[in-house]
Amino acid sequence: MEQLIADALAFAKDVFAQDSGGHDFSHTLRVWRTACALAEAEGAEIPTVALAALLHDVDDPKLSPGTAAHKDRAVGFLRSRGVPEEEIARITAIIDEVAFVGEDSVVPSTLEGKCVQDADRLDAIGAVGIGRAFAYGGAHGRAMYDPDVPPRLHMTREEYRASRSTTLNHFYEKLLLLPAMMSTDTARALAQERDAFLRAFLDEFLAEWDGTR
Ligand code: ADP
Ligand code: NI
Repeated sequence: MEQLIADALAFAKDVFAQDSGGHDFSHTLRVWRTACALAEAEGAEIPTVALAALLHDVDDPKLSPGTAAHKDRAVGFLRSRGVPEEEIARITAIIDEVAFVGEDSVVPSTLEGKCVQDADRLDAIGAVGIGRAFAYGGAHGRAMYDPDVPPRLHMTREEYRASRSTTLNHFYEKLLLLPAMMSTDTARALAQERDAFLRAFLDEFLAEWDGTR
């Protein structure tokens, strides 16, 4: 197992080598570490959680549109290492359910999936989440903020994916919604602290923007 994890780490590192838009290899490392800690606390199967966490973004539709539908990269890697087909199916099912896609987001059907999804979402909030949002916004040519463009709530998967809104709006359209969407108690407690930090950041940002501080 240790060799398989080391190989998955090297594989993910290679896939994300070029990314600087919020999806770099360090995101995968943090999701792996957090997901394993959640799995330990919640009694989930750690090997499955570890592999799903390490591979959860390698076939992301934004990053790799050609392989997203069938998770060709994740499946190809796991097959090349002789992982049994039932285990590959469990891992790809977890990856299928992980993404935030507005109102079409799902609660994962397994405890292992919940640990991976909660870990992925924890990395989108708090100080690192703020950094990732602005990195993503910059990489996609988005304005930081525009008071004339209101955030849009209750988007479908297609609307959410097509949205080209400002980075500040992303806080209202996703980041502030995540704490209530955590599935495990362990992640819910961590999310509360990160959420308080996000809200303090937004207050300060808007006060500085308006010139009231
Ligand atoms: P995840 O790793 O959770 O699957 P995504 O692929 O949805 O993340 O996005 C990568 C990072 O960029 C996340 O931190 C996310 O919050 C951020 N992000 C996604 N869309 C936007 C956006 N429209 N504006 C700013 N940040 C965004
Ligand atoms: Ni992710």
